[in-house]
Amino acid sequence: MKKRTTGSALALRICFVMVLVAFLLNFNDLALKSIVFYAVLLVAGGLIWGRLVMALWPKLTQKARARFGVISYGASFSGGTLLPIRFGEDIATGERIALQLTIAITIGIWIALIYRFIYKNKPNMRKKIVAGNWKMNTLPAEGVELAKGVVAKRALASNEVNFIVCPPFTHLAQVAEALKGSSIALGAQNCAAEAKGAYTGEVAASMIAALGCKYVILGHSERRQYYGETSATLNRKMEQAYANKLTPIYCVGENLAEREAGKHFEVVKVQIEEVIYNLTAEQFADLVIAYEPVWAIGTGKTATAEQAQEIHAYIRKVLAAKFGAAAAECPILYGGSCKPSNAAEIFAKEDVDGGLIGGAALKADDFIAIGQGFGA
Ligand code: 13P
Repeated sequence: MKKRTTGSALALRICFVMVLVAFLLNFNDLALKSIVFYAVLLVAGGLIWGRLVMALWPKLTQKARARFGVISYGASFSGGTLLPIRFGEDIATGERIALQLTIAITIGIWIALIYRFIYKNKPNMRKKIVAGNWKMNTLPAEGVELAKGVVAKRALASNEVNFIVCPPFTHLAQVAEALKGSSIALGAQNCAAEAKGAYTGEVAASMIAALGCKYVILGHSERRQYYGETSATLNRKMEQAYANKLTPIYCVGENLAEREAGKHFEVVKVQIEEVIYNLTAEQFADLVIAYEPVWAIGTGKTATAEQAQEIHAYIRKVLAAKFGAAAAECPILYGGSCKPSNAAEIFAKEDVDGGLIGGAALKADDFIAIGQGFGA
């Protein structure tokens, strides 16, 4: 699997390069203690700046924040060390340090203000996803028609939205063909917990991957409820998905009785702890979560945008307790009677990054119109 560099690892590397640069720039005319002083100042400044960037620019993803932190700190530091060397060669050490600090802080503040201005009114930068779970609907020819309709209308929605369709196993190959050349990704609705062998009726993750799937829905409430899927099974299915380079769309959600008893937070927490907490950081970086309250699935009864935001924010907190800052990058989709008329309001919430759509995904017009919930 592709290795991802975390923000802090990148910041550390940059600090190391900066220390080297400081050595090279100041080597001839600085005593060892000054070099040590600069190195300490640099690392401490980097850590403080890193903390500030994490706190002040919450809308940026971890990657964007790391990039921003590195650019701004690099520019400030280079400006602070280079400019006084060029223009103030004879000044005393104390004055030089004061000048360097002033220049560095000024450059830093200006870059920060520009970033603040650019991102003030932008939505967060997490991946936006609208995924269609066709469930056990459509015959192969109908599925191909539907996929073609989605491809034909895709341009009506923003490029920022990632559309995924998840047809039944039987027509994955034909739908893959219909999606060829488009930006619509293919997903499956389930996969086996084993790699291969004597498991009559099962479909392996390797098989769906070979047909062109990039995603697989796991832990849907219908599978938990009707086919007895437990966390133990789901842990094995997740392993199979990752082993075959499929991104799991892991579903969580409470039923009506649990919601009415006020247990919904506890239910999703356990569903996450028992499965998602077993992932490595690398696997977690390649995960989509879908929150689907069972009482809203196929009932026409949608969670309000506020209810969705409340529990999505909670889910992110539960993820952060295990995976830290990486939780800010995990897309969390809402599912349950999502339709063109309510998508925009739900998607506008800070922690809702799209939808997992059932019934409304069976009409290309509606499916794309839901995507337009993020703006055309
Ligand atoms: P509906 O959109 O039909 O309520 O279904 C939601 C769902 O279960 C998607 O996985």
